Amino acid sequence: MSEKIMIFDTTLRDGEQSPGASLSVPEKIEIARQLEKLGVDVIEAGFPVSSPAQFQAVERIAAECGVIVAGLARAKELDIKKAAEALEAAKKPRIHTFSSTSDYHIFGKFSSDRYGKTLQEKRKTVLQMTIDAVSYARTFFPDVEFSAEDAGRTDIGYLAEIVEAAIAAGATTVNIPDTTGYTLPAEFHDKIMELRKRVKNIDQAVISVHCHNDLGLAVANSLSAIEAGARQIECTINGIGERAGNASLEEIVMALKVRKDRMDYYTNINTREIYNSSRMVSGFTGIIVQPNKAIVGENAFAHESGIHQDGMLKNRETYEIMTPEDVGVEKTKIVLGRHSGRHGLKSRLIKLGYSLSEEELNKIYDLFTKLADKKKEIYDDDLRTLMGDEVLKRNHLYTLERVQVLMGTNSIPTASVQISHEGEKLLDSATGDGPIDAIFNAIDRTLNTSFTVESYQVRSVTAGRQAQGEVHLRIKDKESAFTGRGVSTDILEASAKAYLQAINMLTMEKLNKQTVREESLANAV
Ligand code: KIV
Ligand code: ZN
Repeated sequence: MSEKIMIFDTTLRDGEQSPGASLSVPEKIEIARQLEKLGVDVIEAGFPVSSPAQFQAVERIAAECGVIVAGLARAKELDIKKAAEALEAAKKPRIHTFSSTSDYHIFGKFSSDRYGKTLQEKRKTVLQMTIDAVSYARTFFPDVEFSAEDAGRTDIGYLAEIVEAAIAAGATTVNIPDTTGYTLPAEFHDKIMELRKRVKNIDQAVISVHCHNDLGLAVANSLSAIEAGARQIECTINGIGERAGNASLEEIVMALKVRKDRMDYYTNINTREIYNSSRMVSGFTGIIVQPNKAIVGENAFAHESGIHQDGMLKNRETYEIMTPEDVGVEKTKIVLGRHSGRHGLKSRLIKLGYSLSEEELNKIYDLFTKLADKKKEIYDDDLRTLMGDEVLKRNHLYTLERVQVLMGTNSIPTASVQISHEGEKLLDSATGDGPIDAIFNAIDRTLNTSFTVESYQVRSVTAGRQAQGEVHLRIKDKESAFTGRGVSTDILEASAKAYLQAINMLTMEKLNKQTVREESLANAV
């Protein structure tokens, strides 16, 4: 009989750890609503102890969503307490606690002698920390997940010992992460089989896996683990996540659906919501989906060569193993124009997966009419960028009011900008090597900042001469990188908006850190 595979989505936690990706709380809530619509079983909403914004996101999602909401916590009392607090209003709360189990991690993270001098002593300490953490988490909720970080490179004997102890302490799900994306599919399969043999109480918990994609094997490893007995898969939309990312939700779900003949399992996912989810996450995080990405890439269903097109016209199945409609890709993407009303706009946005308050609807309607004055046809992707760019990014400490550039052959590009900040209008101008450099210099002069621009990309959101230009860039401040995105029919304005958005993200992060420092000081007094 077909068995269910639980889908644990970690887009909002591990996915947000993608280099440069950072989501505002309203964006996270919007994604969580879409994930519920998609049908995931668990939403990992964040890491509450790590910052006030993470805490708030978990708290708000917990209060709103009906599915299991998980909060991450290291095997530390404070982390677990904070996670429990953030999850208090959840209908189905889950604390997800983890310890590092491989020798690499044990020596790296527990190098001090106070954890023991030898490997054996350090392993004993980690084992006890795990038991304490799981038992403590169980005092809050009955649903507790334990992860053995870097299980992919952990000695099987020790891994079995710690998993057994975690289950005995009350873990209801045991997660076996391939944290560094190191293992091969057959090897990972054997690891899960071996655990099932060695861990006496394994039947008392659900086996979960969490695979990273450093060797491009995250999906293959996850599928292999299912065949070995895993019944929960941790994954993210578009496969975003630390370094090369996590296993991609859409690829796993569609592999199970398309190859049910070989793998008789089912998920709760409504596959027709996959495309909306993918575009929403890409829009909010600013991480572009590569065109040849399986399932959700722009070319995933495009047939370029004559032979392929001919075959497709005769019979779709010649070259297509699933249809675009299966994953929610619509054929026509032209939606609205200058004469479309609020009602038309609202219903289209709802169809794209957004839920809007009256205030948000007013805001986007205003932006929509301005855009419709510049552009005849408004496409779905235009609406998505408006939502991501303007409506839900609440952290606009600095707002671009005006940008003006003077340039021409044999002249020095000069830019002037006006930025509003807490009711004040700030303005300045500067020259640069080109118009974009001049804009960035003018913003820096206005705000008294200076950053390295690590990457800069511009692309068109839709086709045609009137298309909006979308700029993605990454700036660096000491150790951290921040991404910004800006959209406009004028790419110079889009560049200014993107640069300013990255500065907004950076400033918010600094303010957050300051609040945490102040809170810790207040607690210490
Ligand atoms: O990759 C990893 O090991 C993790 C754990 C916290 C589950 O993200
Ligand atoms: Zn991870």
